[in-house]
Formats: sequence, structure tokens, C-alpha cells
Amino acid sequence: MIDVKNLTKWYGRVLAVDGISFHVERGSIVGFLGPNGAGKSTTLKILTCYLPATGGKVTIANHDIFTESMEVRRMLGYMPESVPLYPEMRVVEYLNFRARLRDIPGSRRQAEIDRVAERCWLSKPENMLRRRLGELSRGYKQRVGLADVLLHNPPVLVLDEPTIGLDPAQIRSMRELIQSLAGEHTVILSSHILAEVEQTCTHLIIIAGGRIAATGTPGELRDRVTGPSRIIAEVRGEDEQATVQAAKTIRGAKEIQVSSQGNWRRLLISSEQDADIRGEVFKLAGQKGWQLRELRREIGSLEDFFVQITYEQNLQAGLWKSAARA
Ligand SMILES: Nc1ncnc2c1ncn2[C@@H]1O[C@H](COP(=O)(O)OP(=O)(O)OP(=O)(O)O)[C@@H](O)[C@H]1O
Ligand SMILES: [Mg+2]
Repeated sequence: MIDVKNLTKWYGRVLAVDGISFHVERGSIVGFLGPNGAGKSTTLKILTCYLPATGGKVTIANHDIFTESMEVRRMLGYMPESVPLYPEMRVVEYLNFRARLRDIPGSRRQAEIDRVAERCWLSKPENMLRRRLGELSRGYKQRVGLADVLLHNPPVLVLDEPTIGLDPAQIRSMRELIQSLAGEHTVILSSHILAEVEQTCTHLIIIAGGRIAATGTPGELRDRVTGPSRIIAEVRGEDEQATVQAAKTIRGAKEIQVSSQGNWRRLLISSEQDADIRGEVFKLAGQKGWQLRELRREIGSLEDFFVQITYEQNLQAGLWKSAARA
């Protein structure tokens, strides 16, 4: 649905997007993830024909965004980072105005406004449609921005940090709303909060310093988390020494530490990179007649992975950019 090849954007002497390429399948929800200044908003602005690129090629449903920008714009709903609104307009007037811009016929406009107002929590529990935009809180402005994007029911939605400024309950509702759009719509959204997009998105693109640092499904990225895993087991039955001696017989166990709490022995067993020896520990406990009250595996988190790769990427890009300026 969206095909990006070697996209580059210079702002004067600042290289914001450094030759990125990616592909978005129809009906998927793609999370564009990266730290501040990574180039997320710049990329999304180019995809939505809001900004020209310096180089590269982008097609949306086989339309070139540079040469067929009117076709592309008709297929897109774009919610920018901060939604520009006319403060003196009422919500309903604004949505009406936007519906007119999108060529929604007069006879259908009210029905479409009611539909999006309900979907974006503008009509319930309190009816906000008669409020002036300038009086709305940040979160409500965000909801108006989203309602606007959904008015003409476009096949592609581009949302730049859609949950920013929302309260926790609304973040959850927004997540559910975005998930409900999958399949019928192709969604690309940006965020710098990993935990948030991990649950919502089918694919993630991690970007740092204007370059792609990693891509994949949340599961695939989680599998790339490096570092040995550690098993934590709490057993009861023998003293520390005998417990460790027995644990040493487990295949794949590398290093064992033990501590005690009353009669309970807490074992920390490090294992090879990918080995999951929980089954072996359980079997051993059965053979020895130990009681077992905890058995879990600790691996590096996706959050750690994100911090690590964006840091490395930033470092490389920083060096490269200063070399380019020199
Ligand atoms: N209009 C502009 N003129 C000059 N430089 C810009 C402009 N807009 C963005 N930049 C620079 O381009 C780089 C990428 O910015 P961009 O806004 O795309 O980042 P972002 O990933 O959206 O960050 P954030 O998480 O803070 O929104 C940054 O170094 C930024 O300072
Ligand atoms: Mg941004």
C-alpha cells in the first residue's frame, strides 16, 4: 500500500531523513518509533504531501506522491503532531467546513459528523459539538483532529503521535479505536513510547538519526533482544549446598547463585542465549521431591533493545553528519 524508497530530506544543512526505505502492507498498523528528533514527523509530512522530499520515491496505492499528489491526498487522512484549529470556530462548524473541503455532499454531512463525533468521544458523555475550539483542552483538540481525519473515511491514515495529550483512559480508547481501523484502513502512526505501540501495531519501524535502526513485528523485535536469559526458581526441600549441586546437573545451566529465605532456596540460573531451561528445572524439582513456588524466565526487555539501538544509531548518524558538514 505504501512504498518508500531511499527517502531523503535535508532542511538546509540538517539531514533529517537519511535514505530510508520501507513497505507497508494494506490493512496493517505500522508504528513509527524513535526518539525526539529522529525524523518521524518529517517522514510523515512527506508521505502526506505536506513537505517535498530532497530525494527518493514514495508511492501510495501505486500513486506517486510527487507527481500525483491530488490522488494521494484524497486517499489520506493526516493528523499532524499539533492539530491546527481555528479557535473561534465551534467544533461542529469546523467539522462541517472540513467535510465541505472533502467534497462530502450536504445531504450526508450531518450523518458523517455524528458518526465521527461518536467514535472520537465528542458527543458523549458530554456533547462538545457546540463548544468553541479555542476553549477545548489539549486532549479534546486531539479528538477533534482525529474526528476530522475520519470524516471522509480514507483508506490510509497517518497519525503523528495520536495519543499525546490524552489521559490514560483515553489512551486506551484511542488504542482500541486504532485497532478497530485495521484491515479496512492502513494506518501509520508515530510514537516515542514503545509500550504503547507494541500493543497497537502489527509492524514496527524503529528510526533514529534519520535512519531505520530495526523493523519487524513486535514479536520479531522481541526475539532480537540480546543478552543471556536467567531463570529464577524458588524451591524447598534441601539445604543450599545440596540444592545447588542438584541444579548443576541441569543441561544448559551456566552459572548458579543461591540465597535462602527460611526453608526456601532462591536459585538464579543463567543459561545460554536462547535456552529456556524452565522445563528442566521443573523436572528436577519433581525428581527431588522439592516444592516449587516460583519459576520464571527473565530476558532483556524490548524497551532496553530500543534504547540500545537508537543510541547506537544516533551515535553513527551524529558522526556521519558532522563529517558531512566538515
Ligand atoms: N522546519 C525545520 N527546519 C529545520 N530543521 C527541522 C525542521 N523540522 C525538523 N527539523 C529537524 O529535523 C530533525 C527531525 O525532526 P522531526 O520533527 O522529523 O523529528 P521527530 O522524530 O518527529 O521528533 P519528535 O519526537 O520530537 O516529534 C530534527 O533534527 C529537527 O530539528
Ligand atoms: Mg515529531
